[in-house]
Order: sequence, then C-alpha cells, then structure tokens
Amino acid sequence: MDLFEHQAKELFAEYGVPVPTGKVAHTPQEARAIAAELIAAGSSKVVVKAQVKAGGRGKAGGVKLADSAEEAEALAAQILGMDIKGHTVHKVLVEQGSAIAQEYYFSFLLDRANRTFLSICSVEGGMEIEDVPHESLGMIQISPLDGVDLAKARELAVSGRLPEAALDGAAELIERLWSVFVDEDATLVEVNPLILTADGKIVALDGKVTLDDNASFRQEGHEALEDKASADPLEAKAKAKNLNYVKLDGSVGIIGNGAGLVMSTLDVVAYAGEGLNGGQRPANFLDIGGGASAEVMANGLEIVLGDPDVRSVFVNVFGGITSCDAVANGIVSAYALLADRGETVDRPLVVRLDGNNAELGRKILADAALPGVEQVETMDDAAARAAQLAAAGA
Ligand SMILES: Nc1ncnc2c1ncn2[C@@H]1O[C@H](COP(=O)(O)OP(=O)(O)OP(=O)(O)O)[C@@H](O)[C@H]1O
Ligand SMILES: [Mg+2]
Repeated sequence: MDLFEHQAKELFAEYGVPVPTGKVAHTPQEARAIAAELIAAGSSKVVVKAQVKAGGRGKAGGVKLADSAEEAEALAAQILGMDIKGHTVHKVLVEQGSAIAQEYYFSFLLDRANRTFLSICSVEGGMEIEDVPHESLGMIQISPLDGVDLAKARELAVSGRLPEAALDGAAELIERLWSVFVDEDATLVEVNPLILTADGKIVALDGKVTLDDNASFRQEGHEALEDKASADPLEAKAKAKNLNYVKLDGSVGIIGNGAGLVMSTLDVVAYAGEGLNGGQRPANFLDIGGGASAEVMANGLEIVLGDPDVRSVFVNVFGGITSCDAVANGIVSAYALLADRGETVDRPLVVRLDGNNAELGRKILADAALPGVEQVETMDDAAARAAQLAAAGA
C-alpha cells in the first residue's frame, strides 16, 4: 500500500523525523484557515500541495507557494479537482514554506534482485531519481541483521556526497528513517527532496512510503491508512473475502486457480477477443488459489458477476493437489450457495477443466447440467468461446 505524502509525513513525525508543520484541507476555505494559522505562527510563506499517489506533482502544477491565506485559498481552489496522471486531487496539504538552501535525495528500499535492502543518497535532489546522474548516486546495501545506526547513517549520507554542513543532521534523520522502514514494515521510504534549510537544518520536504501488505497482520495501525474512498468497491468486497481480485475494464470475467495461470488466461482472452464485436477484453483478475472450495468459488462468482460490465465468465482450472472433481463439485455447490443468497447466475459460464481428475470433473459438471454452463476442453478454445459470448451479449 502506498501512502499519501501527508500520511508519510505524519508517520515521519512520530519517529522524530523533522517535517514542515502542516495540515490537510479538502476545501479552499479549509486551506485558507490552515494557511492563516501557519502565517500567524510565523511562516512568511505557505505551500499548497496536491495529495495524489503519483509522482511529478510539482511539474503538473500541483505544488504552489502562497504569500497569504487568500492566495492559499485561491491556489487550493485551482489544485483541488485537478487531474494528475489520472488521479483526481481530493485533498491538499497546506504547510509552512521552507527556506531551501539545497535539495538532496534519500531512500531506503527493498532490493529484490539482490535480496537485501538498499539505501540511495544523492546531493542532487528534487528531480526524479531516474534523472539524477549515476555518478552522484551513493548506493549502499544494508544488511537486515546489522541495520543502520548513527555511524552507518553518516556513511550513507557521505556516499551521496552531502556537504559537511549537512552530515550531522542528515545522519540523525537517516537513522530515524531506518526505524520507520523497519518498524512499519515498509518496502520503500523515500524523501525527495531532503533539504538543508537556510538556517542549517535538515528537513524531509516530501515523503513517499510503501507499506508491505504481507505484514498487515502484525501492523494493526495500517488499516486506518487505507484510502477506502478511492478503493474500487468490488476490490474492497473481494479483499474482505480474502480473494485476490483486481478489477480491469473488459467484459469477460475471469476465475482461475494460481496467479500464473490467471495471468496467462488474461492474455489468451485478450488475444481471442481482439477484432470481435467491440473488442472483448478481460474484466478482472481473480485467483481463487489452491483450495477452490464451494464457498470460495461462490464468493468468486459473486464478485465477478457483481461487475455490471461482465457479459460472460471464463472459469479456467488446472487441477493439481485440488483435483478437478473437487473444483467441479465446488462449482455445483456454488450455484446452490448463490441461490441460497438470493442470487442467480444470469450470464454464461465457460468452464475448462484440465489436469488431475479432469475426466471425473467434466462428468460431474455435465451431469449437473447447470443452466448457462458450457464446457470447452482447451484453454484457447474456451477463451475464444467466452469472448464470443461476451461479444454476443453486448
Ligand atoms: N514546504 C515547502 N517549502 C518550500 N518549498 C517546497 C515545500 N514543499 C515543496 N517545495 C518545493 O516544491 C518542489 C516539489 O515538491 P515535492 O517534492 O513535494 O513534489 P514533487 O516532487 O513534484 O512530487 P512527487 O514527489 O510526487 O514527484 C520541491 O522540490 C521544493 O522545491
Ligand atoms: Mg518530490
């Protein structure tokens, strides 16, 4: 889960990482009130910053300086509602303006390729990290066993060629950022820019944090950070039922067992749907995993059919430890379960069963003669049939 800048900064503040004072506003009037407060407390300038989970907000016109509360209100009116890389701005962060002497870059991240953690530091910050000349980047692997103490933190700052005047402050801040990274189970903690102020302080002027969802079971506080308002309602419902569902924009609902199989099912369906009436594409990713019990199948069908754009469903199962007869029984019971919940499967279902006990599975499904269910033997043919049915239902 990615955090908004303001959430990242609130987290930083809890760990003693210096950040500018500020608050979130949802309306221009709120922005004005916050700006007035900041100015009364001594800020000569305030900054109004779009809160979206996308980079390059400054370049898009989503970060602006104001000299007065009136100006902050006007800027907030401009920025709220703005579209930045497909994200609508629903809130802005209004914070005290900092007198910037220099802008640096710093991050801790999970280095998957090398199976370790990495710190990246550079004296050249503020711009996209991809644009920073390679020779000015300090990249140091961090052993999770050793971690980062103050001395190590200083070494990281030196690796990015930060000037002497910035080293003490930067080392202190970096040590605390490491605590954020470890204690919050983050996979990314990025500060760009990390600044040296005119009066010699080191401050995190921006914050980007990605939390590891796999650790949510031991991070009770993280649920409150979820952006429920902009979550897709079907994805939220699927999550509540422990299903791996991602909403896409096509018309063919997909249910499969195993992430790899589902990924290739998406490709095959997209390929089969090309050139058909209106072009038919997958409507979702849904991996029901190994178990594929009747309940999981019923939940999966309910979620997929909850998408009004879905006009046919392709159930693609390769029997392994969970054999095809178990899956077939799962589908049959799922229909009964859905009927109990007062729901009918009102769109055609194309089922392809292969692998362990495929013959028996196919027989169970054929004998059940569920309305709207067709069996097709191969993945390619089944994908083509599902796409065709979706096109016909358009
Ligand atoms: N509180 C502040 N005081 C003064 N200047 C600021 C402040 N916040 C941001 N700025 C200026 O605006 C620039 C862009 O801000 P920021 O890094 O937060 O956004 P961004 O980099 O455009 O967005 P993203 O990080 O999403 O790509 C900073 O590099 C800095 O020069
Ligand atoms: Mg930035």
